[in-house]
Amino acid sequence: MSATQVITPTAAPKVQHVGQVTWRATRPTEPIPQFLIDEAKVETKQSFDAKQHLRYEPPSKIYTMKEIGLEGQGISPVAVTAPFQLFTEEAIKQMRAEIFSKPVLDNCLYMSEFVKSTVRGMGSARAPFTCDAWNSPEVLAKVSEVAGIELVPAMDYEIAAINISVNDQTIPIFNAPKPDEDEFPAFAWHRDSYPFVCVTMLSDCVGMTGGETALKTAWGEIMKVRGPAMGTAVVMQGRYIEHQALKAFGGRERISMVTSFRAKSPHVIDECVLTGVRPISNLSELYSQYTQYRLEVLEERIRDRLKKEQRSALAKRDFDIAGARAFLTQQKEFIESMIEELIE
Ligand SMILES: [Fe+2]
Repeated sequence: MSATQVITPTAAPKVQHVGQVTWRATRPTEPIPQFLIDEAKVETKQSFDAKQHLRYEPPSKIYTMKEIGLEGQGISPVAVTAPFQLFTEEAIKQMRAEIFSKPVLDNCLYMSEFVKSTVRGMGSARAPFTCDAWNSPEVLAKVSEVAGIELVPAMDYEIAAINISVNDQTIPIFNAPKPDEDEFPAFAWHRDSYPFVCVTMLSDCVGMTGGETALKTAWGEIMKVRGPAMGTAVVMQGRYIEHQALKAFGGRERISMVTSFRAKSPHVIDECVLTGVRPISNLSELYSQYTQYRLEVLEERIRDRLKKEQRSALAKRDFDIAGARAFLTQQKEFIESMIEELIE
């Protein structure tokens, strides 16, 4: 897709993000159960190798934005996928070893009103395997393929947010609601901060029920999509779809890894916000990475526009007043949205 094709006034409408009122990071009050830490240990740490650790099988179904009445919104025609195989069991073990390592638990554990325990911002020094996996061209190619647009991790900080829920925090299976009353949300209705998300299951879901994602269609219907099982993933355009995660029942633990993505091309509309992630982040790291990627996007857009202007002048074409004004207005809005996000 060429640069000039994408930035057009037909860009998706702005979406209001529903987030929390406060945004100071809080550490969880309850420690991570020792059994999770003990069982996550691996004998040998491996380096990520797509040949060995990637096991991709295409999703059985990809729901489109059109099917849920949101055609033309967002950055891709894809809404959400059915769960699909992405990683091998060994890859999941390596990721779990990094998540439950001491440096990660000491530095990266947060809680919010939505999650009791979440690990964020592990970074490549503490989690080289996980970070290499999500930056690997092979993994990105598969995620991009099912998303219908070329994607990259939104920023290093968003390479993995891991939601940890252990059995004593969930309702035992014998207390699980009957099928007609299973609308128990694990998270409130919301839209994500970044365009796309890939949710990978790191737990064995045998004996677990629920855990679906509920989506709201344009006509107000609720559509449920099955949640991922161990080693499988679901890709969703969560910034543009109102959704909620439904509670899972049974099973000893439920550990899901959430990786957030944005378009690789700097010319695609970028409506990332930080509302949902501010309360569960090291603000200094988050703001720095956000600012760096946004400035890179701006740099690329300006370079591209400058070249176009130079070519136009060489060809002695008339100056495109409307085009220049439209470009500048879009960049002004892009900078204004950054100012709105970078709050104390
Ligand atoms: Fe979400």
